[in-house]
Amino acid sequence: MYLQGKKIVLAVTGSIAAYKTPHFVRLLIKAGAEVRVLVTDAATHFVSPLSLATVSRQTVLSNVSDGATWNNHVELGLWADAMIVAPCSANTLAKLANGICDNLVCAVYLSARCPVFIAPAMDEDMWLHPSTQANVNRLHSFRNHIIQVAHGELASGLIGEGRMAEPEDMLKHLAHFFSDDNKPLKGMKALVTAGPTYERLDPVRYIGNFSTGKMGIAVAEALADKGAQVTLVLGPSNEHTYHSLINTNHVESAREMYDASISAFKDAHISVLAAAVADYRPQEQATEKIKKKESDLILTLIKTDDILASLGKIKQPWQTLVGFALETNNEMNNAAKKLMEKNADMIALNTLRDDGAGFGHDTNKITLLRRDGEPVTLPLQSKADTANAIVDQILELRNAEKTV
Ligand code: CTP
Repeated sequence: MYLQGKKIVLAVTGSIAAYKTPHFVRLLIKAGAEVRVLVTDAATHFVSPLSLATVSRQTVLSNVSDGATWNNHVELGLWADAMIVAPCSANTLAKLANGICDNLVCAVYLSARCPVFIAPAMDEDMWLHPSTQANVNRLHSFRNHIIQVAHGELASGLIGEGRMAEPEDMLKHLAHFFSDDNKPLKGMKALVTAGPTYERLDPVRYIGNFSTGKMGIAVAEALADKGAQVTLVLGPSNEHTYHSLINTNHVESAREMYDASISAFKDAHISVLAAAVADYRPQEQATEKIKKKESDLILTLIKTDDILASLGKIKQPWQTLVGFALETNNEMNNAAKKLMEKNADMIALNTLRDDGAGFGHDTNKITLLRRDGEPVTLPLQSKADTANAIVDQILELRNAEKTV
């Protein structure tokens, strides 16, 4: 029932497992989904587009343009509630992981705003090759859902890992994704701050920091994936998110971030403050460009409001408040102090001493400090996995409070 009315784009690529896709399409249609099928040229050696067109009751598309007709990949990417690449050959896997765009499947993948599921299928040695594994990890870190390969007989005659998951299992995977069991935060609101702030000195200069916003955006996406309606208050950042449950409020300065956060906090069940907010701003903001003089320039900086601490003061028992702490020394003590002083329920501690952690990286290593219990140190992992782990801890925290 969870697939009723869902719009699914199925991309079939060149692997023997493609012969199972007409059956998969029938299962999707029976479950109430609307299916559009795309094939690569290689896929057509293994499955007939006519079979796929017949079961999906739609034209099967293979090229960005068919003679005079242009197949609008952007439209398909926006139309879909989910895209599934099944089977995904080693070649397509490598292309998707690296943004190569030489056919319609790749173009739709790059245009898709919906969740993407990838069901790899290849021989075991190809599957286990470090380049394939690196590509899978890369795709996972881009928030694609990897449907694990199955163990069994392979086209080469060998027995091992690399078979595409069975159509019934892929259907279960999709149904679970759309089910309410997978959305424990459905109906709840969340606030996330992310990115740096810029404090203007004059019309051409500012004081800022190296935050990219990646970690906060990953947290917003993890909360939205679990069903929360998220307000993302984002400082100046080149990063984007297109999740349908995330509403991005772009701000520039600490003051703007403070105002937007206070307003979204009122009905937020969960607030995660991941932004690197300026602690000070110039007392004066020149209206004209400050000209160079013989003498040195002395700036007076005044304190900004601490958003986390302000929210900690007005927090209600039904609200969960999580902060970050970026430390370079005496990390645990400083983070524990922030937890208590800012009245947060949890602090995610980042230390710049860990390789692969902190600003700009796609990975992070954090320790979670709660008021109760021992600190939990997570492994170095993608920011998406780190964000999921933070959200799991938040759920645990809220469930624990409910049972007290
Ligand atoms: N924070 C905030 N508003 C500020 C400063 C910080 O909301 N004006 C939040 C951050 O988003 C983070 C937490 O407070 O969740 C800790 O930020 P951090 O920069 O580590 O600490 P500070 O409190 O600024 O203290 P210090 O810079 O001295 O370590």
